[in-house]
Amino acid sequence: MGQLQIADAPINLIDLIENKKATGGDALPEAGNGRKVYIETYGCQMNVADSELMGGILLSHGYTIARTVEEADVILVNTCAVREKAEDRVFGRVATLNGYKNRKPGVVIGVTGCMAEHLRDKITDQAPYVDMVIGPDAYRRLPQMLADKDQQEAKDKKDEHDPIIDVRLDRRETYEGITPVREEGVTGWITIQRGCDKFCTFCIVPYTRGRERGVAPREILRQARALAEAGYKEVTLLGQTVNSYKYEGVDFADLLTAVAQIDGIERIRFTSPYPVDFTPKLIETMAREDKICKYIHFPVQSASNEVLKVMRRGYTIEEFRQLVVDMRAAMPDLAISTDIIVGFPGESDEDFQATMDLMREIRFDFAYMFKYSEREGTFAHKRIPDDVPEAVKGARLKEMIAMQEGICAEIMKPHIGKLVHVLIQGNSRKSDDDWVGRTDTFKTAIFPKVEGTEPGQIVPVRVLKATSHTLVGEIEWNCSKP
Ligand code: 5AD
Repeated sequence: MGQLQIADAPINLIDLIENKKATGGDALPEAGNGRKVYIETYGCQMNVADSELMGGILLSHGYTIARTVEEADVILVNTCAVREKAEDRVFGRVATLNGYKNRKPGVVIGVTGCMAEHLRDKITDQAPYVDMVIGPDAYRRLPQMLADKDQQEAKDKKDEHDPIIDVRLDRRETYEGITPVREEGVTGWITIQRGCDKFCTFCIVPYTRGRERGVAPREILRQARALAEAGYKEVTLLGQTVNSYKYEGVDFADLLTAVAQIDGIERIRFTSPYPVDFTPKLIETMAREDKICKYIHFPVQSASNEVLKVMRRGYTIEEFRQLVVDMRAAMPDLAISTDIIVGFPGESDEDFQATMDLMREIRFDFAYMFKYSEREGTFAHKRIPDDVPEAVKGARLKEMIAMQEGICAEIMKPHIGKLVHVLIQGNSRKSDDDWVGRTDTFKTAIFPKVEGTEPGQIVPVRVLKATSHTLVGEIEWNCSKP
């Protein structure tokens, strides 16, 4: 499905993780010998969570986390294959990283994640300086692979060796028992499901991440409790089609109910759900549990039934629309965002206009909009010619973004004058004098710090200004606490 939101810029794990011990199995306990690992993450939240997992595994084997790439002995680039643009960016980046390797002999460069799985041969051909290629189900073997690399170097002093490759997919790997090394902070990711079984025709994820499997509820709850004990206030449950989660008799709604019972966790989010598996029970659970944020990322992809059929999304637009109606009936203040692909093969002007009409009708709070890009190995790549001209794709995307920007602005404006409750996440990007945080409905809010406030608190903020993506306000204590 690949429905997780994809970041455009790399997320720097170095800023996120602390050098602390984690449990990750006991083979080669001190193999790292204090060597420093720099992990750079591209792509979706699942990848951020996987980088935290790799950090956990490596720290428990005697490695430490490098704060900058310059000080690293091992550089891991955790990659995304969902769209072509993400892959191109990684090739550029590893070429740059090779410069560090040239200046500091012995540095190991590893490419991990979805691109490693998808482009193993292209990586080894085009980037021979990459030492390790590691798929998403092979992270437990990272310490062993690094140890093998050491041996290879010790035995044979030449500069270039064959890369060590491990891209085996494993239907059972859920990384149970491994504690990811997380941001010391406010909100923590918990991967509850790996892989995907939906096989939308455009999507590479089932091929790069393998078959869908749920993480055991005991493991999810262990991690959620640990987060609460460490002072985290919010958890986000992650899966490619997160609401399809099943583990023995436990479904996704049951899991949410269980997580909501953990003291200390004040907000629960999840991403990304798959429309077909959004059950009445789940809607009812969301409406009932105050801790579950009233925000859903709900990828529609297209509003043309013809296109949806060729995408093999498994729903009609009428069914999607009905789900939105049901959700809004149960949760009147619900915020909804979506993913859209423009220029999917066969998309006519009418199909495109149908999607524009749906966007005007539903008024998504936010939309991630992408031009279709053919992914090698998918059904669409093999069987459905990519026949919408690039210029048409570009024009449609531009038109759609402009329209959605207008909707975002219209949705944000009425917040002016209202009171919102914001979970403080940290300093705003622009100024250390301001906090940034999120409302329950996932709106970004910025406001001046006042004494006695700190990250992790939920504070009442009076909105004074609103742009299409940000609320600007000030803390207002003399009102009832959230
Ligand atoms: N081309 C363009 N966009 C894609 N997505 C997934 N695969 C492709 C592709 N081949 C988008 C979908 C998905 C989001 C994560 O990325 O909209 O929901």
